Amino acid sequence: VNGEGAAGVPGDVFRSLAAVLRDRCGLEFGDGNRYLLESRVLARIRELRLEGPRAYVQHLRYGPGAPAELDTLIDRVTNPETYFFREPEQLRAFTEEILPSWEERARAGAPLRIWSAGCASGEEPFTFAMLLEEMGYFGRRSVEILGSDISTASLARARQATFRENSLRETSPERRERFFDADGPGRFRLRDAVRGRVAFSRTNLADRAELSALPPFDVVFCRNVLIYLCPEAKRSVVAGIHSRLAPGGFLVLGRVESLVALSTEFRLRHLRNDMVYQK
Ligand SMILES: C[S@@+](CC[C@H](N)C(=O)[O-])C[C@H]1O[C@@H](n2cnc3c(N)ncnc32)[C@H](O)[C@@H]1O
Repeated sequence: VNGEGAAGVPGDVFRSLAAVLRDRCGLEFGDGNRYLLESRVLARIRELRLEGPRAYVQHLRYGPGAPAELDTLIDRVTNPETYFFREPEQLRAFTEEILPSWEERARAGAPLRIWSAGCASGEEPFTFAMLLEEMGYFGRRSVEILGSDISTASLARARQATFRENSLRETSPERRERFFDADGPGRFRLRDAVRGRVAFSRTNLADRAELSALPPFDVVFCRNVLIYLCPEAKRSVVAGIHSRLAPGGFLVLGRVESLVALSTEFRLRHLRNDMVYQK
């Protein structure tokens, strides 16, 4: 009933797996999502033909491929849900308000740097590339778009840039036509012109040393990532993002997320299309 016993994951093993994930990348597993971690771990144990949960913890901690196994576990327990043109009001805030505000302040010739922090399989940063392409922005300005994530499996999909219908559920026929090629039944390949606009990096947002290697950004979207993290990691990630934002830079969180109780370092800006944070 409580997941313990022969077929489940004993409580102490669950706690030790949850501690590894929390310490490594801030992910929070507790009563509310215990089942998710357990079911993914049990599936992995079957895949590896290990004896059971305790043998898996040994394998994860001391096995020959321990670091790679932790990456695999992270791939299996993170939620990669995303799609192109997610939350149109936020995207309108980006194109109609954030970009013009940046342009007013930017030095002539300064590059525009945009970061999708926690980009999963890339639909979010590729959306920025498509929007900027539609605006004719690339001819006028030097633009750098970075997508980062902790999941190597998601990043591999992003680099492949082939997507299924689910990722295009908010993509209009005109945009499908303009930016994608059919790539077999129900598969769509993003054209190279847009694909080449986005760079990807594996970055653990909970690791300040990794963040310090990034350049300063003018706009950061970190949507639907904080919800998966424990309170300390949320605060650390937000402080880390703040440190990577240029003065006056914008932070856009997911629609249900806010910085309440996480940071007082940002100004809350009520734009016409959305509420965003500014450094
Ligand atoms: C639900 S997706 C959000 C994708 C996209 N931002 C969107 O809103 O459509 C959450 C992503 O956060 C990533 N993530 C979770 N913890 C992370 C961490 N500590 N560092 C970097 N990425 C992390 C997961 O791997 C996953 O791809």
